[in-house]
Formats: sequence, structure tokens, C-alpha cells
Amino acid sequence: MPALFLGLAPLGAQTPAPAPAAAPAAASPPSAKPAATRSVWDGVYSKEQVGRGQKAYNSLCARCHGDNLLGGEEATPLVGKEFLDNWKGKSVGSLIEETRKKMPSDGPGKLTRQQCTDVTVFLLNANGFPAGGADLATDLEVTNQILIKEKK
Ligand code: HEC
Repeated sequence: MPALFLGLAPLGAQTPAPAPAAAPAAASPPSAKPAATRSVWDGVYSKEQVGRGQKAYNSLCARCHGDNLLGGEEATPLVGKEFLDNWKGKSVGSLIEETRKKMPSDGPGKLTRQQCTDVTVFLLNANGFPAGGADLATDLEVTNQILIKEKK
């Protein structure tokens, strides 16, 4: 029977100390989620539309969500972190439809998509997303492709 050789690597072949470990600092990767083709950072509405949206907001929404959009007794805030936490990763179209189907909570289903689109534009503006050159279309095929995200 031939002796079995256990191939042990020779000791002593000292490798130089590795350079300070390249510990992957929790760097957030460049957003690798091409869920939608555009985002709210791309200037998806016009300034004029914000004005129309504000008028609609004042007459249709402010009595519950407040003049400052911070919400009220039951109505949730429509600006700031809590709101964005609820909506990030979703589409602008879904936000428009949420309003169209559920708001005002005491008598929903009566607002037109145009009204809901304009009001949503007002909310986008209030949350710090930039205006662009053209109105946001009411077409859901367009708005469903626009992603809500907190950071660019
Ligand atoms: C009669 C009071 C009332 C009015 C008027 C009203 N809302 Fe609301 N809204 C609520 C309440 C209450 C909630 C939270 C409970 C719910 O989701 O039904 C809410 C929730 C919402 C949400 C969901 C918020 C989130 O973070 O998920 C949106 C968006 C919204 N409202 C938009 C609007 C818009 C836009 C208008 C005007 C067109 C409007 N609401 C008018 C009472 C109201």
C-alpha cells in the first residue's frame, strides 16, 4: 500500500500583511432599481399646474389635511417624512388614484382625474420635488411610470 500523503502547505511562506482591510463601508449602491423610467426628481410638472393644484387643495383638502398639509385629527400629513415613507417606491399614478378613489374620506369618488392630478402636483411641489417645463398628464399610463423616491 503506498503511503498516503497529506498535502500540507509548507509553513513559513509568509505573505506580507495585507493592506488595511478594504472593509466595505456601508456605502449605499447607486439606486439599482429601474422600476420606473422616470422619477419625481425629473421635473414632471409645471409651475402653473402647482397653482391650479393649490386652489383645488384649498377648496377640497385643506379642511381636513390643514392649510400647511400637516394633517389634522385623523387626516394624515401630506408633506414630510411620514408621508414619503408611505409613498416612496410607489408611483405618482398610484397616489393620484388613492386620492381619486378615497378622498375626501367623507364622500369619495367624485373628483375628476384632472383635479386629483393637479392636487398631487401640488403635493409633489410641497414635498420638494422640482418643477419642469410641462404639465403632468392625467394619463395613468404616464403617471404610473413615475416613481416616488425620497432622494435622487
Ligand atoms: C373629510 C376629511 C378629508 C378630506 C376633505 C380629504 N382627506 Fe385625505 N385623508 C383623510 C383621512 C381621515 C385620511 C387617513 C385615513 C385614510 O387613509 O382613509 C386621509 C388620507 C389621505 C391620503 C393618504 C396619506 C398617506 O400617507 O397614505 C392622501 C394621499 C390624501 N388623504 C389626500 C387627500 C387629498 C389630495 C384631498 C383633497 C382632494 C383629501 N385627501 C381630502 C381625510 C380627508
